[in-house]
Amino acid sequence: MQPAVSVLFVCLGNICRSPTAHGVFQNLVDKAGLADAIYIDSCGTGDWHIGHAPDERATQKAAQYGYDLSSLRARQLCANDFSQFNVLLAMDKANLRDMRALSPTSFQGKLELFLSYDRASDKSAAGVDEVPDPYYGGEQGFDEVVQLTERAARGLLEELVREYNLSSSSL
Ligand code: 4NP
Repeated sequence: MQPAVSVLFVCLGNICRSPTAHGVFQNLVDKAGLADAIYIDSCGTGDWHIGHAPDERATQKAAQYGYDLSSLRARQLCANDFSQFNVLLAMDKANLRDMRALSPTSFQGKLELFLSYDRASDKSAAGVDEVPDPYYGGEQGFDEVVQLTERAARGLLEELVREYNLSSSSL
């Protein structure tokens, strides 16, 4: 069966934020019984970590929250992604700029900040519309990545179910 929608999470290195978003959203989609309807992948705008497993700090933090990132391997965003994916979600504004620069004029899908799907927070008050890069920081940054990602993932799933008329077993 062809998935109804395909979602690509994009960050810089594809070893911290976008694999976390990939694992968290995959878990939610699986629990909703929508794994056949929603295809998920992640990648980075940079090429430093191609083929690498996610950063160990990200893998360990995700595991603490119940998510398994062990099968993921980094790859770089490519022109073909704009024909393969309907929804491309950036972790921060620099990622979004780089994605726009690579997108063909024929691209009909969505290019957005992932946290625009976080319905729970008042972003104008909190000022959080990007997932901060945790790579050069401490452990708390990795907690923040999981927590922001969990909230936005719920909003994203609700939106896709509505927009693509998907029938979920758990929403
Ligand atoms: P990510 O974090 O974009 O969330 O995967 C980073 C990982 C690696 C680097 C920067 C950010 N780096 O410069 O190698």
